[in-house]
Amino acid sequence: MALRTIASLGPLTGRRVIVRCDLNVPLDDGVITDDGRVRASLPTLNRLIHQGARVVVCSHLGRPGGVPDPAYSLAPVAQRLSELLGTPVAFARDTVGESAQEAVAALSDGDVAVIENLRFNPGETAKDDATRRAFAQQLAGLGDALVSDGFGVVHRKQASVYDLAEIVPSAAGLLIEKEVDVLDRLTENPQRPYTVVLGGSKVSDKLGVIEHLLPRVDKLLVGGGMMFTFLAAQGHKVGKSLLEQDQLDTVRRYIDTARDRGIDLVLPVDAVVAASFDASADHVVAAADALEDTPFGADGLGLDIGPRTAELFADAIRSSTTVFWNGPMGVFEMPAFAAGTKAVAQALTEVDGLSVVGGGDSAAAVRQLGFSDDRFGHISTGGGASLEFLEGKTLPGLEVLGWEQ
Ligand code: 3PG
Repeated sequence: MALRTIASLGPLTGRRVIVRCDLNVPLDDGVITDDGRVRASLPTLNRLIHQGARVVVCSHLGRPGGVPDPAYSLAPVAQRLSELLGTPVAFARDTVGESAQEAVAALSDGDVAVIENLRFNPGETAKDDATRRAFAQQLAGLGDALVSDGFGVVHRKQASVYDLAEIVPSAAGLLIEKEVDVLDRLTENPQRPYTVVLGGSKVSDKLGVIEHLLPRVDKLLVGGGMMFTFLAAQGHKVGKSLLEQDQLDTVRRYIDTARDRGIDLVLPVDAVVAASFDASADHVVAAADALEDTPFGADGLGLDIGPRTAELFADAIRSSTTVFWNGPMGVFEMPAFAAGTKAVAQALTEVDGLSVVGGGDSAAAVRQLGFSDDRFGHISTGGGASLEFLEGKTLPGLEVLGWEQ
């Protein structure tokens, strides 16, 4: 079944519409370091403004644990939203209290207010259905309808994402529609060759997606911290690199499955090995089967894929028609260990077909490394959400909007 769209809510002029966004942006001392998610929320907000709705924006930011914490205030986000929309945006200092009610009551048609971080209230993330539902009921008091547009959080069964959508008339926003459309193209008959590139630190975070995608892809490239568990599973020594001992058997099974099914599982042939986890640490390139044959011996730690691997990966990516990438290839935040991630990002921009960057760290990486969003087919705003979608899991925040995979 398809998602319910904004049109299904009927005329919105003068109606109070709650928009659940994912404005969970990285902050450094109150300054937004990547406003990608704020920008991604603009098409839906602009559409509702033009329809004359009274727009009540809500979101979580970080994990404040159910109590107000100024470090996680949405105030800087409301400010940025106002700049990007080019219109004043009111800000309520609470979620469902007096300030929120006043801000909503003061809205005229086409106006926008942002309420404070939903996770300042324990009801938002409560595991107990009744507690969550009670908070959703309070939120429902702020609006006549819900447009759910926080794709990054649709894998969470939380009050504003799930329960609220059952209480008031609800529909998916334009961002969710777009995300689902692109990710669905990766699961339903992707154009081949189809390559998936996985990185990031832990294999254990990616088990579900590897399991689900392995039989569906033509090539699976593995880099980032998780590559060392694969290299160790092949019998190589990895020094002090990240290694998940308890995943070795699982990873060996993946390697066997790939071989038996003729899937090209491409593992690194070299890595950048450093003396310590430090931006200015001494480092050298070592072959994957000789990671301890460096001046650092068994103390060395791999912090990036090596140049031969980067070339190998880039070739595989460029010769594919559909590519999905999630997880940096190395510690891209440190320039000495960013080359692998940069090479993969660059190759994605050269794909003649559909290139998709999974959210979270990979989205932050491409922007931090200076690539503009329009060089990719799609940059997802959801890290965990896009992975769970590709794993074929039922996502509560989509299911409640009518979506069936
Ligand atoms: C994210 O950053 O992946 C989303 O905003 C979800 O955040 P959460 O993992 O804290 O639920």
